[in-house]
Amino acid sequence: MNTFAADVLGCKTPLILAPLAHLASNELIAAVTNAGAIGTLPLHRFKPEQTRDRLRQIRSLTNGPIMVSFTGEWERDENLDVLLEFEVQLAMVFWWNGPRLIHRLQAHGIKVGWQIGTDEQLSDALSRDADFIIAQGLEAGGHVRSPHRLDDLLSLIGDRTDRPIVAAGGINTPSRAGQLVPSAASAVMIGTRFCVCDEANNSDSDRTLLIDAEHDSVILDTTLRGDWPCAFRRRLSTGGDLDVPERYANANISEIVSVLPAAQIMADFAKVLNQ
Ligand SMILES: Cc1cc2nc3c(=O)[nH]c(=O)nc-3n(C[C@H](O)[C@H](O)[C@H](O)COP(=O)(O)O)c2cc1C
Repeated sequence: MNTFAADVLGCKTPLILAPLAHLASNELIAAVTNAGAIGTLPLHRFKPEQTRDRLRQIRSLTNGPIMVSFTGEWERDENLDVLLEFEVQLAMVFWWNGPRLIHRLQAHGIKVGWQIGTDEQLSDALSRDADFIIAQGLEAGGHVRSPHRLDDLLSLIGDRTDRPIVAAGGINTPSRAGQLVPSAASAVMIGTRFCVCDEANNSDSDRTLLIDAEHDSVILDTTLRGDWPCAFRRRLSTGGDLDVPERYANANISEIVSVLPAAQIMADFAKVLNQ
């Protein structure tokens, strides 16, 4: 029995669906939760009415534990009140919005995971009493800021805290998850693997591009773009060089070779993580 999953996350399997922008359909979020882990809704620029609509739809599919992620500085405080209506008890923040949000969320009984990529960001998270730490390594798909590969980041921070650590970035296979949990982390957070599943909100051709991608199909794009505070993006450079979430992918993309239902992906991970 994984005590972090049971006591903090409120689920059986120590796995969190990474926030996946608009690829995170209601069906995907609910499928991960209904399979015993944590589905995550990214609140990207949502107005409170949109948050309420999405949570209402997700709650028609699952009553289990879900997480919301606050992805930018532009998030509206009014969204916090909506969370309480739908019994959301988990949230994720970053180094830039954490200081503003964490204590408000915790005051409402919401447990907060703080995503970090450096030692310095860990200090911020600990000084503000994050309930758990999400350590995102350099391999991660989409927006990534850490200069450290995941294993190096975990070694760097492991001795500094007894807070539970969730490992994220480049984890596509149950065997990799099993290398990390429970020895180096209490749980894993997984993104790209779930972009290649039946429930993800992307097209068949987007999924085919991801399946066909090799290691060198992925670049870390360091150009500054948009208003996201962390501008580096790991994405496919194949298929038209588009810079959109449908083309975000982690550095280990060549390990993903088939489209599967989310429940199957979950069952494969659960076999290893629940041993
Ligand atoms: C398609 C895609 C969309 C993403 N959208 C978001 C997002 O909306 N908010 C966020 O905080 N992170 C987002 N991320 C970053 C993931 O949270 C990050 O990649 C996570 O560490 C999981 O890594 P993995 O994709 O290597 O498994 C996205 C990543 C991908 C691949």
